[in-house]
Amino acid sequence: MKFPFAQQPEPAGATERARSWRWLVPVLLVLLFLAVLIWLPWQARQMEANERQEQLIADTLWVEQTLRFELARSEEALASLGSDLVSRPPSPQVLKARFQQMFNNGHELVRIVWYGPDGAVLANHGLDAPAALPAPTRLAADVAGATRRGRYSEAYGATSATSGMIDYYLPLYAGGRLAGSLVATYSLQVLLDETVPWWFAQDNALTLLDRNERAVARRAAGGPGRGVYTHQRELDLPGALVVLSTNSVKRAPQLLPNLLVGSVIVLALGLVLSLGSLWRHISRTLAAERALRQQMAFRTAMENSLVTGLRARDLEGRVTYVNRAFCEIVGLPAEEVVGKKPPMPYWAPEVMLDYEERFRGVLSGNITPQFETVFQRPDGVRVPVLVYEAPLVDADGRQTGWMSSIQDITDRKRAEELNRQQQEKLETSARLATMGEMSSMLAHELNQPLAAISSYTAGALNVLERTGQSGEPVNSGMLRHALEQARQQAQRAGQIIRSVHEFVKKREPRREPVSIRSVVEGVRALVELQARQAGATLRVELPPQLPPVLADRVMLEQVLLNLTRNAIEAMVDTPVAQRVLRVAAAHADGMVTVSVIDRGHGIAPEVAAGLFSPFYSTKAEGMGMGLSICRTAIEFHGGTLTHAANPDGGTVFSFALPAQAADGALG
Ligand SMILES: Nc1ncnc2c1ncn2[C@@H]1O[C@H](COP(=O)(O)OP(=O)(O)O)[C@@H](O)[C@H]1O
Ligand SMILES: [Mg+2]
Repeated sequence: MKFPFAQQPEPAGATERARSWRWLVPVLLVLLFLAVLIWLPWQARQMEANERQEQLIADTLWVEQTLRFELARSEEALASLGSDLVSRPPSPQVLKARFQQMFNNGHELVRIVWYGPDGAVLANHGLDAPAALPAPTRLAADVAGATRRGRYSEAYGATSATSGMIDYYLPLYAGGRLAGSLVATYSLQVLLDETVPWWFAQDNALTLLDRNERAVARRAAGGPGRGVYTHQRELDLPGALVVLSTNSVKRAPQLLPNLLVGSVIVLALGLVLSLGSLWRHISRTLAAERALRQQMAFRTAMENSLVTGLRARDLEGRVTYVNRAFCEIVGLPAEEVVGKKPPMPYWAPEVMLDYEERFRGVLSGNITPQFETVFQRPDGVRVPVLVYEAPLVDADGRQTGWMSSIQDITDRKRAEELNRQQQEKLETSARLATMGEMSSMLAHELNQPLAAISSYTAGALNVLERTGQSGEPVNSGMLRHALEQARQQAQRAGQIIRSVHEFVKKREPRREPVSIRSVVEGVRALVELQARQAGATLRVELPPQLPPVLADRVMLEQVLLNLTRNAIEAMVDTPVAQRVLRVAAAHADGMVTVSVIDRGHGIAPEVAAGLFSPFYSTKAEGMGMGLSICRTAIEFHGGTLTHAANPDGGTVFSFALPAQAADGALG
């Protein structure tokens, strides 16, 4: 059967596994994405740092070169001055001018002293010549003497407040002999201040360090260095170890204020959050789906186990759903029914008009909530069905169609038919039995009119004979009287036979509103006949307003006949004066009760036990069927048959039937 929800549910383990796999890939991708998101800015920061570091190194190199170049220039100028001093000593004015020129070329130069070969000061420019060479310069002088080359001293004279100096000791030789020396003193601070360009100083704190890594000069125009980007470079000075240390004032590239990083973080957070909520939503949906699937499986199993057919139709009458039982009832697969509009393949031609009429009702929104009809299977077999219809309402309370449940009532119909036939047979035989019981009474009853007819006609013949012999004219008055009497008696006999025939003739049981009065009247003649023969009197006591009952008239007549006959038979030993048979009726609590009251011998307890059993009789010629038939008939009409002792002696048999809520009492 095609049904949107009726798929086989997957086994739970497989679903579980499939679900975890389904999640694995997106989760991995998202993690990867997040990792990339985090890595990218970190990488960018790293690159930026590297770039800055490299830039600093290049700049530091360049500054070192500049410093070195400045000093080298000064060395050359000193060397040239030195050779001039040895070969042809200039006049003091010229010397002074040359000294001054050197000072102008490089402001870091704070002093030049020209010493003679004996160490006496020959000339001096700038600061005063020191009383004795400082210890680092003496050391440099010793080495320079040995190597015969100019040499720098270590930096000296630096304190925490003042910067240091450095000396350049140049020995002078004439003809291979020491002819004196030139000692230039440089202020390292001025060297830094003058040589390093301002833009570099702005970005970097510069420090010159001596061999012991003590700072001997500093420049920090843009504030102290942050220690993030640093570089150290040795100035390549013969004899001295001076290190140029640069320390950038720039901070490490910051991560957070970065717009890129910010948006990446926001995006990542948003992604994680929305992923989380998506996950929650999907889990909820999955749980709901699982619950739904379980319910559907349950429902499908339930529908398939039903023996009642189910059919849903939309408002246009198109079949939208049928269950298995429906398919079995109509003998068609669901595919041939679902989606179809009337006329349906299971409509039987002989009831087509009925279907169409009812379908028009469905379209106009008027349904018959319950009706019986016939469906036809493809092989032509008719299936009687009972259909219940109800509106189909969706979750919003809107009607979307009709739901019908269909019961195959073939078996019930068959049972009903069988029951009806049996009932009919039973009734016929019961009537025949009653008549059999009454046969002697009837014979006796018929005998009377027949004997009377016989004697009247004999009398008439006598009259005719006598007048024939005497030649007297016929006494037409006498003759007429005799014949009239004979005719009446013949009519009476005919009446008796007709009433018997009427009672016995085969007929269909038929329920209709029946008044008790008419029932009593119907059997009155027969009852009175029997009563008269038994010497009893019949009294009928019916209230004027008595509602009718829904019943088969002849069956009620038979009941009444049986009860009255039993009553009459029970009174054979009763004194004639008390042989009264009463038929009374009453209406109370929606029931009409009819009582047959006698003053007979009553019912002993041991008799009472078997009273209603078939073939139970205390009479020599009784068949014992009377009360059994009566009870069946009364119960068939939804009533009860009971008996009780009559307080005046005798028995009261009563049957009660539901009164018909009639518009007018039939009396
Ligand atoms: N009105 C009555 N008074 C006393 N006994 C009765 C009365 N009606 C029925 N009975 C008892 O119930 C028995 C069964 O009655 P019934 O079924 O009509 O069979 P039958 O009349 O053939 O005996 C009778 O034999 C009789 O003993
Ligand atoms: Mg009887």
